[in-house]
Amino acid sequence: MFKRISALVLAGLTAMSVTACGGSGGTTSAGTGGGGGGGGDTITMGFAQVGAESGWRTANTKSIQDSAKSAGITLKFSDAQQKQENQIKAIRSYIQQKVDVIAFSPVVESGWDPVLNEAKNAKIPVILTDRAVDSKDTSLYKTFLGSDFVEEGKKAGQWLVEQYKDSKDTVNIVELQGTTGSAPANDRKAGFAEVIGADPKFKVIASQTGDFTRAKGKEVMEAFLKSNPDIDVLYAHNDDMGLGAIEAIEGAGKVPGKDIKIITVDAVKDGMQALADGKINYIVECSPLLGPQLMDLAKKVVKGEQVPPRVVTEETTFTQEQAKQVLSSRQY
Ligand code: AHR
Repeated sequence: MFKRISALVLAGLTAMSVTACGGSGGTTSAGTGGGGGGGGDTITMGFAQVGAESGWRTANTKSIQDSAKSAGITLKFSDAQQKQENQIKAIRSYIQQKVDVIAFSPVVESGWDPVLNEAKNAKIPVILTDRAVDSKDTSLYKTFLGSDFVEEGKKAGQWLVEQYKDSKDTVNIVELQGTTGSAPANDRKAGFAEVIGADPKFKVIASQTGDFTRAKGKEVMEAFLKSNPDIDVLYAHNDDMGLGAIEAIEGAGKVPGKDIKIITVDAVKDGMQALADGKINYIVECSPLLGPQLMDLAKKVVKGEQVPPRVVTEETTFTQEQAKQVLSSRQY
């Protein structure tokens, strides 16, 4: 069993059991559908998603939509197309519709205090999922459910250090960062830098955003290859950028996984396939299956129950051999 998801209950908070609320569940877009909740038994959740930039995000959206349905929660769902202003508009619309609970995965970390204060004044609880905000005022949200991105970056760095432990040569690394200003981009970069920074032979010779997309990953890797003839390692903050980069590497007549070692984060099916095929060398898992835990937390906060302020997703890592073993049973 490679993956377990569990809650870290902080500060001795008591998690009480919750009875399921009525209603059959369903999904509407942000600006449509009837008035929110607040009255009946059925909980209405407004969810402001980042976009559909990656395989991870598609799996995350499906997990949230399926889990809302199973939990009997009516879901109002919006796709912000990777733009903060769209997420803010969606959250304001959920406030106007008086939903029972708002959940969102913030595209970037900063700039959320005004709209979160509006939700607080309207007495609508907010749950952060997947990504954090940098607000000092933690009363603006009830809990944050998601991965430890710094830890993910550290795991990527630890694998690299181990691979090159017997070498004295310089290791030239290029880095494809996620969306600028997003928590996973900031934290995966920091965790990785902390680990490899202990040995000066590891040199990050180029680092640029690929916005978590396959197309941008390919484009930026092409530019890296043109200006850096001597790349040993690619560290991509997600599988999709790594997969785009593989196309660029092959286009430049090099062999991904051999001429250039590749480490990515996520472990979505396409990434795991490339790992099993030897084109990626190592993947740090980031689980998108946050839906069931999110619905449980939503039911609790709507009832006014206390929830842990931070719920961390537990994740693993995959080598090429491990990918071959688990590929057929991968859910996403
Ligand atoms: O926030 C999680 C990250 O966002 C995933 O690693 C990436 O694939 C997604 O777009």
